[in-house]
Amino acid sequence: MKAVKIKEDIYWVGAIDWDLRNFHGYLTQRGATYNAYLIIDEKITLIDTVKEQFADELIKRISSIIDPSKIDYIISNHVEMDHSGAIPKMMDIAKNAQLITCPNGEKGLSAHYKRDFNHRVVKTGDILNLGKRNLQFVLTPMVHWPDNMVEYMPEEKILFSNDSFGQHYASSGRFDYENSKDIIIDEAKKYFANIVLPYSAQVRKELEVAATLDIEIIASSHGIIWEKYTKKIVEEYKKWSSNKVLKKAVIIYDTMWHSTEKMAYAIQEVFEEKGYFTSMKNLQHNHISDIMTELIDAEYICVGSPTLNNNIMPNVASFLTYLKGLSPKGRKSIAFGSFGWGGQSIAQTAEYLKDSGFEIVDMFKQKYIPSSEDLNNLKIKLAEDLATK
Ligand code: FEO
Repeated sequence: MKAVKIKEDIYWVGAIDWDLRNFHGYLTQRGATYNAYLIIDEKITLIDTVKEQFADELIKRISSIIDPSKIDYIISNHVEMDHSGAIPKMMDIAKNAQLITCPNGEKGLSAHYKRDFNHRVVKTGDILNLGKRNLQFVLTPMVHWPDNMVEYMPEEKILFSNDSFGQHYASSGRFDYENSKDIIIDEAKKYFANIVLPYSAQVRKELEVAATLDIEIIASSHGIIWEKYTKKIVEEYKKWSSNKVLKKAVIIYDTMWHSTEKMAYAIQEVFEEKGYFTSMKNLQHNHISDIMTELIDAEYICVGSPTLNNNIMPNVASFLTYLKGLSPKGRKSIAFGSFGWGGQSIAQTAEYLKDSGFEIVDMFKQKYIPSSEDLNNLKIKLAEDLATK
């Protein structure tokens, strides 16, 4: 296991998690990486570490360049354990190293590891001189934890961006140009939709700072390093964090005996006739984290569930809980579903959608199987409501 050179005396020394498929509820179908960076200068510096179980991989990659005990600084950009997990081990190996963190990082690291590391606290504007090069710190709280920070190296025009601009994507190609552009942009979009979306306002602030810097390389803490498509990923982040929606409706549902499904397709027909881009997402076949990616620019979020034992279907409940946590702003929604005798699922679905901050444009409730006339009535009502609400 070797380090990968990024620029003269700057190396990627992270770990590749080929088998990861679940990152707290997010389907990581292409695995993940935990990126750490080694800078050889008068002061030898490690930026971030890896998940604890990958510590040996990190150590092997560092050892391919230098004795890890010689590290002077270990920078912790983020307390979440996919990046800080190997800090205790690295601090044990690099006995003279100083841990660099921000005020919230100081609290978080102490709460996680119950140790008093030799450390220094930095804030926005502070500069750490490594010898020939410098690192300028920018605190980016809530992108996506209170303790996030990034640093910029002006001499090499590299932004070490931690989670921002990352993707869950395992590959032996460390740079963007070694991978399919469409796949890495799509994975970055999925990462944004599932991790960063609730903090879009903070991302916009981070992008304002980034606009003042001359950035050639973005070295994030997950996935590939942006070098060829640096401008492209910054433009995409501007778009995703703007919360601007397209004329697009996503219809998400589960169904027991196809009645709710029939309603879902009737709803889709109306949107299609109104010139909307539509997307059908049966929760039996689509993962909630992939649906979130689809919702990033959807004006309408329509959710259907039949009533099962006076309740929402489990797949729909799981999706609604996940959606409520991420709550994209300013969306319109429709709740619908079939029932036999209780019929509670429709109001329960609407309640979740309201709690997510969405405007409820319509609710459709169908006893047993919808007839052609029922579906036609649904379409007429929805078409009218879309025109007036
Ligand atoms: Fe990649 Fe928020 O940790």
